[in-house]
Amino acid sequence: MRKKIIAGNWKMNKTPSEAVALIDELKPLVANDEADVVFCVPAIDIIPALEAAKGTNIKIGAENMYYEESGAYTGEISPSMLTDVGVKYVIIGHSERREYFAETDVTVNKKVLKAFEHGITPIVCCGESLTQREQGVTIDFIRQQIKIAFLNVTAEQAKTAVIAYEPIWAIGTGKVATTEQAQEVCAAIRTCILEIYGEDTASEIRIQYGGSVSASSAPELFAQPDIDGGLVGGAALKADFGKIVNYK
Ligand code: 13P
Repeated sequence: MRKKIIAGNWKMNKTPSEAVALIDELKPLVANDEADVVFCVPAIDIIPALEAAKGTNIKIGAENMYYEESGAYTGEISPSMLTDVGVKYVIIGHSERREYFAETDVTVNKKVLKAFEHGITPIVCCGESLTQREQGVTIDFIRQQIKIAFLNVTAEQAKTAVIAYEPIWAIGTGKVATTEQAQEVCAAIRTCILEIYGEDTASEIRIQYGGSVSASSAPELFAQPDIDGGLVGGAALKADFGKIVNYK
């Protein structure tokens, strides 16, 4: 039985002091031993967020990291900077990173490999545009994203990974994918992992849905056989996140 993983992606929201206030507000609401609860926060919020979340079930994750160890990469955050303060999760390849910061499947793969090398669990994002969905190429496109993201990743590593299926047209639009659409793609992702790694890995890897998840859509989405939780944007910044985490 896979443990659910429900993560918030704060994106570029909340100053360090606002981050502490939000965690203080949410911590009693997101207590749930049945799921892993992760808050992925802006880099500058990581240290105060870790402090604020101490002694709770909240794990703090990063929203991005670079794939080199150190050096002349102005503005980037290295994997050991994250592990040094106790970060265990990092979002890799969010569609906003791909769209605004020119990330590609190849850089996503480099980051995924680097995260594993440092013992950080990557939350690997994939998802199609509205045009791709309308053209009927969603599954092909997602399979390609997954295959490249997982190049040279071992089965043992892949078992511990998290994949977030986030249709771009559902992000921040209030237009949540139907339960059937979300389940169909998450099942296809599991099949793709099965083809690459076999049954054991496919049954252990956790696959989230993301895109306008709310307290009202979460229960049905998270009850699907191939949906192991969610990656939540806007609703992770409000008390509603407590309802999403305790969706049952
Ligand atoms: P929303 O929940 O705001 O649609 O954002 C989803 C997302 O991009 C999470 O990574």
